Amino acid sequence: MCKMRILKLELVFLLNLLLVSGDEYNNDVSEHSLELTQSLNLARQELIQETCRHFPPRYSLDELPPSHLEHILINEEHKLLYCYVPKVACTNWKRILMILAGKANDTDVLSITASVAHTPGMFRNLSSVPRPERDYMLENYNKMIIVRNPFERLLSAFRNKLEGDAPSAKYFQDRVGRRIIKAYRENPSNESLEFGHDVTFKEFALFLTNRSEDMADVVNNEHWQPITNLCHPCLIKYTLVGKYETLLDDSLLALHTINASHIQFPRLAHTSGTAEKLHRYFSQLELPLIRRLYKLYKHDYRIFNYDLDNIVGFDLG
Ligand SMILES: *[C@@H]1O[C@H](CO)[C@@H](O)[C@H](O)[C@H]1NC(C)=O
Ligand SMILES: *[C@@H]1O[C@H](CO)[C@@H](O)[C@H](O)[C@H]1NC(C)=O
Ligand SMILES: *[C@@H]1O[C@H](CO)[C@@H](O)[C@H](O)[C@H]1NC(C)=O
Ligand SMILES: *[C@@H]1O[C@H](CO)[C@@H](O)[C@H](O)[C@H]1NC(C)=O
Ligand SMILES: *[C@@H]1O[C@H](CO)[C@@H](O)[C@H](O)[C@H]1NC(C)=O
Repeated sequence: MCKMRILKLELVFLLNLLLVSGDEYNNDVSEHSLELTQSLNLARQELIQETCRHFPPRYSLDELPPSHLEHILINEEHKLLYCYVPKVACTNWKRILMILAGKANDTDVLSITASVAHTPGMFRNLSSVPRPERDYMLENYNKMIIVRNPFERLLSAFRNKLEGDAPSAKYFQDRVGRRIIKAYRENPSNESLEFGHDVTFKEFALFLTNRSEDMADVVNNEHWQPITNLCHPCLIKYTLVGKYETLLDDSLLALHTINASHIQFPRLAHTSGTAEKLHRYFSQLELPLIRRLYKLYKHDYRIFNYDLDNIVGFDLG
């Protein structure tokens, strides 16, 4: 039933594509692509709602502890709520939020230092907003989320935080890597125990799928928490649903929608070899472990319409 629905939505989208691109006499290319992106955005919203009807959330918004809304950043000037998801272009969107709020100049988005954009307390978030005001914002503001294939995001977090040697990686290796090695490696070297710098992808997967209490604090880290847990797409009706795969178009639509088209969204070269990388890392895991990992992210997979084809060549769902 769900599959049928997806098919139908994609058909509608394709039809739109054909109809619009058949219209050769309209020169306004950007209006064109905005319209296309908007129809895709609407199809995504419909699919989210459809999936949420099949898998209703366990809480209502009013029952949710306010702290669960802290990923939703507020910009009042442009009436925007943005649920930021680490590893899905959130640095660039936080930079843009700074510009929207007048905390930075709009000449060159990338000139804003990443660490500045991530400064705690830089933006007001929905967790601390009194309920009447919160409800007003949820009703009247544009609500944006940008999602990504869950395993791709997971791998990106692993490579960036546990494999890398940037300062923020050192921090994670010290705080998380050492504990993973202590818990999951037989006969670890002193060096590995001391630095936590060489966690394997398999150890990382064991760590994530083992819900042991004593690791809960680091298992629930925002970099690998399911997007569904961070942004509650079944409770909050997002009006701008972007995807990493179509980031530029979706970001242009969002900027247009909030009357901020003057801001240049950074056009970064896409990292290549993603499929190859996914295959390389996930082939280090046995199928039952991939299955357990998939279970953790299955709501993300379903709600945002991703599949496992590029990992194992078939759908585990
Ligand atoms: C959300 O706001 C609260 C209250 O101002 C703050 O303590 C918290 O750090 C913020 N969280 C995030 C992720 O920005
Ligand atoms: C923006 O640039 C102008 C001129 O360079 C400067 O005076 C101003 O302080 C800048 N504003 C912010 C928020 O950085
Ligand atoms: C590792 O540490 C233990 C205990 O501190 C020590 O006995 C051992 O010699 C160390 N091994 C190496 C290879 O440094
Ligand atoms: C979970 O981790 C603990 C050690 O932290 C280990 O004793 C236990 O066997 C693991 N469980 C699974 C299912 O891997
Ligand atoms: C954008 O501008 C239009 C036209 O001026 C206005 O109707 C709309 O409310 C604005 N939207 C936002 C989010 O500011």
